[in-house]
Amino acid sequence: MSKKMWGGRFSKPTHPLVEKFTGSIHYDHRLAEYDLLGSMIHVEVLRRAKLLKTSEASKMYKALEALHKKASKGAYVPDPSSEDIHTDIQNKLEKSVGALALKLHTARSRNDQVAFASKLYTKIKAVELGALLSNLIEALGTLSENNRGLLVPAFTHMQHAQVVYLKDYLGAYAEMLKRDAVRLDAAAKNVKLIMGAGAVAGTPIDSAKYEIKSPGRISGALAKSFDIHPVSNSIDAVSDRDFVIDMLSLLSIIGMHISRLSEDLIIWSTKEFGFVELDEAFATGSSLMPQKKNPDVLELARGYAGRLYGNLVNSLTVMKGLPLSYNRDMQLDKEPLFDSIDIVSIELKVFSELVKTLGFNKSRIEEVLEDESLYATDLVYYLVDKGIPFRTAHSVVGRLAKHSIDSSIEIKSMSQAELDKYSDKLLRADIIRLLNPTVSVKSKRSIKREISYVKSHVGS
Ligand code: ARG
Repeated sequence: MSKKMWGGRFSKPTHPLVEKFTGSIHYDHRLAEYDLLGSMIHVEVLRRAKLLKTSEASKMYKALEALHKKASKGAYVPDPSSEDIHTDIQNKLEKSVGALALKLHTARSRNDQVAFASKLYTKIKAVELGALLSNLIEALGTLSENNRGLLVPAFTHMQHAQVVYLKDYLGAYAEMLKRDAVRLDAAAKNVKLIMGAGAVAGTPIDSAKYEIKSPGRISGALAKSFDIHPVSNSIDAVSDRDFVIDMLSLLSIIGMHISRLSEDLIIWSTKEFGFVELDEAFATGSSLMPQKKNPDVLELARGYAGRLYGNLVNSLTVMKGLPLSYNRDMQLDKEPLFDSIDIVSIELKVFSELVKTLGFNKSRIEEVLEDESLYATDLVYYLVDKGIPFRTAHSVVGRLAKHSIDSSIEIKSMSQAELDKYSDKLLRADIIRLLNPTVSVKSKRSIKREISYVKSHVGS
């Protein structure tokens, strides 16, 4: 059992089961890098407040910097018997600089420390996720480019509806992901890094000492959004977990989008559809049925959406009954946060590669596009152009389609006399021209085509 940060008041050791039950080091060690950055900034605050001599501050800063270097390389080894990462860092600092380390916690509490470290972690992960979203949007763009001009049936209620460009089908997913990027950006901007809350009531240090421009180790463009704000409401600063819930919510939405894409690809890759072929590197086999090439990757992405939602509901439920301010329940916010970030990060990486390898079966798709029902709406517009009211035209084509189904005669094979029974405006030559996928998509002039797959949707 390692040294605690609060031992003084206690004369009895903690029960080993309580140690196990309350400890969070086994997951919050992932905050090491961010807690260390916060600690380095705190050293500067203490120096400004003359609570540390310049020589003490630089000694402490260097020791923390060395630990930070280790943490950013993944080489920070936490002591599993520490209560949490904040305790672990304190203990490691003491080993490195001796009694001077005992001054680091001046005007500080783990309550504000954990909020700061979690917020910094969330902001940095938001930047990384933004880049991953961009990659997937670009991969969808590349896939569209590689299949330029390919037309596919669009479905409503899973029934044949109308013909669309594949690039618009894929573009629909790109639109979702672009909105996700905007949501991510907005959520990250809403996370304010705050120092000076202490346990709940603020600290004796003048707020001016807390105003620091960007943590030292965060460089370049990133730095701008990482200013440290002096606390304006210390109670909220230690008890706010909205940033976790915002993140889990938008990650759930991203996961839902990836799940829908997965579902489309699962259906499209069935033998019944046969529209798309999964690359072998992104499929799996069956231990029993030798012929199988299964879309397990897509199924897992669909399944993970459930876990992402669970993590969101988990955090909402933990928070809903908490009185102000900090309560230990809030320690439980980290596992769902880390889990959802990990899930969405790997999904975005996998899908950026997977979509590039998708092969479309053009001849099978063309075969399906021969279904005349896909052009029924175009026939309605044709009659509308000839002055027939839309509802009347709709009914005419409806009856014609029913006749075609009942008699098993395609509309394009019907004689002019047959067509005349439905409307004298239905000219056979026109109808044959209209029952065509290219003519169909080209007739849709309401779509303003300025979709771009450039990165400009993120950041700014
Ligand atoms: N490990 C704790 C957490 O993640 C640190 C805060 C403990 N604070 C306290 N007052 N017991 O929330």
